[in-house]
Amino acid sequence: MIQVTNEDNMKLMTRYKDGHFDLAIVDPPYGILNKTKRGGDKKFNMKEYIKWDVKPNQEYFDELFRVSKNQIIWGGNYFGHLWPRCEYNKCFIVWDKNQPESLNNFSMAEMAWTSFDKPSKIFRYSVRKNRNKIHPTQKPVELYEWILRMFAKKGEKILDTHLGSGTLATACDNSGFELVACEISEAYYKKAIKKIKEINPKIKLKLKF
Ligand SMILES: C[S@@+](CC[C@H](N)C(=O)[O-])C[C@H]1O[C@@H](n2cnc3c(N)ncnc32)[C@H](O)[C@@H]1O
Repeated sequence: MIQVTNEDNMKLMTRYKDGHFDLAIVDPPYGILNKTKRGGDKKFNMKEYIKWDVKPNQEYFDELFRVSKNQIIWGGNYFGHLWPRCEYNKCFIVWDKNQPESLNNFSMAEMAWTSFDKPSKIFRYSVRKNRNKIHPTQKPVELYEWILRMFAKKGEKILDTHLGSGTLATACDNSGFELVACEISEAYYKKAIKKIKEINPKIKLKLKF
């Protein structure tokens, strides 16, 4: 079952008991756009993007660590306060986007902090294969399918607090994982639901909790 709601993630998380989810795979705003005034895919509404590109506060991270047993957090390099949580930060995930060096204003990789005591991992997948984007920071389904293969065990419950375009929902559906996810923006939420249903019209989708 894939449950996707249109709401603030703090509201969603208060409904769950401690450690309810086995694994949270989250992609929060990195909070860099307002500072750097660059980045992102220009075909999208940058004013809208700048509005939501605000780093989550400590209360969010406290809730995330309360409701989930393990965490994979994209933008781990921007959330330095996570690093002292572990004695050492052994397992970062690096997505090598295969960006040409000439595009030096775009990052060549994205990093995720993880709570796992495993060796670090690299996923190589060209960002240019990520076509038909409906969201400015859309990650490839292939990346999330690979993460599920590497880090999740059969039957585990997955949490996504920042759905965006719904790529993790499709990856969970393709890989047979239960997911609870939410998105605060009604516009992104509607687009995500449409895309998820187009990819699999038979998907078991729950839109209310
Ligand atoms: C970096 S994007 C996620 C992109 C996603 N991983 C994908 O592949 O499409 C972050 C998303 O979180 C949403 N968001 C921001 N604050 C939120 C909140 N408090 N609760 C739920 N969603 C939120 C934004 O609207 C945005 O769509």
